[in-house]
Amino acid sequence: MYKTHTCGELNIEHVGQEVSLAGWVDRVRDLGGVSFIDLRDRFGIVQVVSNPETSQEVHQDLAPVRNEWVIQVIGTVRKRPEGMTNTDLSTGEIEVEISRIEVLNPSVTPPFQINQEEDVEEQTRLKYRYLDLRRPRMRNNIILRHKIVAFIRRYLDQKDFLEIETPILFKTTPEGARDYIVPSRVHPGQFYALPQSPQQLKQMLMVAGMERYFQIARCFRDEDQRGDRQPEFTQLDIEMSFVERDDVMALLEDLYTGLVAEVRADKRVFEAPWPRLTYQEALDRFGKDNPDIRFGFELKDISDLAPESGFRVFADTIEKGGLVKGINAKGIGDYSRKQIDELTEYVKQFGAGGLAYLALTSEGEERSSFAKFLSSEVKEELIKRLDGTPGDLLLFVADAPEVVYESLGRLREELRDRLELVDKGVLGFCWVIDFPLVNWNADEKRWDPSHHLFTSPMFEDIDMLEEDPSKVRGQQYDLVLNGYEIAGGSIRIHNADLQEKIFGLIGLDMDVARERFGHMLRAFSYGTPPHGGIASGIDRLCMLLADEPNIREVIAFPKNQSARDLMGNAPSSVEPGQLEELHIKVDLE
Ligand code: AMO
Ligand code: AMP
Repeated sequence: MYKTHTCGELNIEHVGQEVSLAGWVDRVRDLGGVSFIDLRDRFGIVQVVSNPETSQEVHQDLAPVRNEWVIQVIGTVRKRPEGMTNTDLSTGEIEVEISRIEVLNPSVTPPFQINQEEDVEEQTRLKYRYLDLRRPRMRNNIILRHKIVAFIRRYLDQKDFLEIETPILFKTTPEGARDYIVPSRVHPGQFYALPQSPQQLKQMLMVAGMERYFQIARCFRDEDQRGDRQPEFTQLDIEMSFVERDDVMALLEDLYTGLVAEVRADKRVFEAPWPRLTYQEALDRFGKDNPDIRFGFELKDISDLAPESGFRVFADTIEKGGLVKGINAKGIGDYSRKQIDELTEYVKQFGAGGLAYLALTSEGEERSSFAKFLSSEVKEELIKRLDGTPGDLLLFVADAPEVVYESLGRLREELRDRLELVDKGVLGFCWVIDFPLVNWNADEKRWDPSHHLFTSPMFEDIDMLEEDPSKVRGQQYDLVLNGYEIAGGSIRIHNADLQEKIFGLIGLDMDVARERFGHMLRAFSYGTPPHGGIASGIDRLCMLLADEPNIREVIAFPKNQSARDLMGNAPSSVEPGQLEELHIKVDLE
């Protein structure tokens, strides 16, 4: 037997017992001939000691041992001498006096220190991910992730959900990204598509009468990488029959309230029901449909004041059909010109032509890039709209609506980080609802679904599908946490006629629609219950519950920013024979 105990569990109650421990050498110290080793396993660290006066043999065996060697020690637990207690360690009151040591496996020198939280370049961490995962921060993230998924499984089981696996090799399930495709050897020239989500299959399970389904599902999307995106990621995927929007939302509220209480009891969550914003309200107030609602600095519209303001930039924008909006950056009215220029450069990245400012200094003075053009009435009204008081910096962008939303929405979150505006102990959940069902794609001259093809229109809006699709709202809901979209779902279309109508609206040729989704239309003709569901990004949820800045920190083996696995070096080329079997010719020209 290698272990009678783990390295984390020994304490004063074990004093006098003979134990066998096994793990990694976290650190070796030699103090006046006595060797101290911090022995580490997944459960903790314990100090083991060898004194040459007690056993010359043990001491010799121990001499070559270095950091990250795997060893087994047999010894006796004893209380540490007075004053030697380490309060940082759960085992800090005791140590183990070694009577025998066995080297199970040596280690070459690691490329970075395992026992220190030093900054290591991410490339190196990903290449040696198995070593990175030995470090406490990463180990704790992996443990937290396990606890999150374990809680979710227990909770949903108690609520009568069935966990059902769906195939990875299937056909395209579009969620707005490119597919990863897999060539078939047995059917030359044909391909499977890896699921962007199990969307179609979970709807099939509702037709099949399963009523309550969930899956911790791996999804694959070939899209541009960001800190909160991976080419393969994990969803908590849920679908329910005989439900309305509120039922699905209430389930998620209860699940995540319980989850936070279990895994991050130190964090505070709003009491359910969580705030609900319409899509338009989210844009108007926060500039984005995944707002961080934990702090103010909301966007205020001043478009109505712009035409007569006397400031050309504002007036011209309105004439061209744009918007003028501003935010009150409370408390930084004394920012220097240089600091304001930095904010201006920041918004310019998002297409804004500039950032007009009106600084109300704490001394009661005004500095502004544009106030000289304004009448005193307009200026007073602007200040009033933005609730400006001495010490505030009022910032404005005039542009096309998308640019105003994006630049001010981003600026608001930039200021949040610069000025540390949020209490990190709060988890700001909110819902965004009433999205438009479809958006006009000007490049392709067609309507694109704003969620996916299977989302039901609001029943009261169905009549407008023909005359003005832009006015039709979808029965969609997104769950947002601290400015990240952590879940999205909808009530589905469960009727073949309406589904066909939506395929038509988005310009999907009926032959193509039948080829791709004929199985769904067929299934819908066999008695389909009303149904709806949601999918939540487990990686994003874990990232936020672990207070990490990107999802790679909560994934054991993530891809890097260019979708490459640096440890296994994937993707890579394959044997010519494999390509031949698949009837594939590679043309890199
Ligand atoms: P959606 O496309 O909104 O909905 O995805 C659901 C949630 O999955 C997470 N997510 C991602 N996480 C990491 N990397 C990615 N590339 C990535 N893409 C999405 C987000 C998102 O909110 N089938 C529908 C759900 C439904 O209608 O039930 C769907 O997949 O947190
Ligand atoms: P200018 O007339 O170019 O010197 O600009 C005067 C002020 O208006 C400067 O503070 C600019 O940053 C700002 N500005 C220019 N374009 C815009 C815009 N589209 N929206 C908001 N402010 C702008």
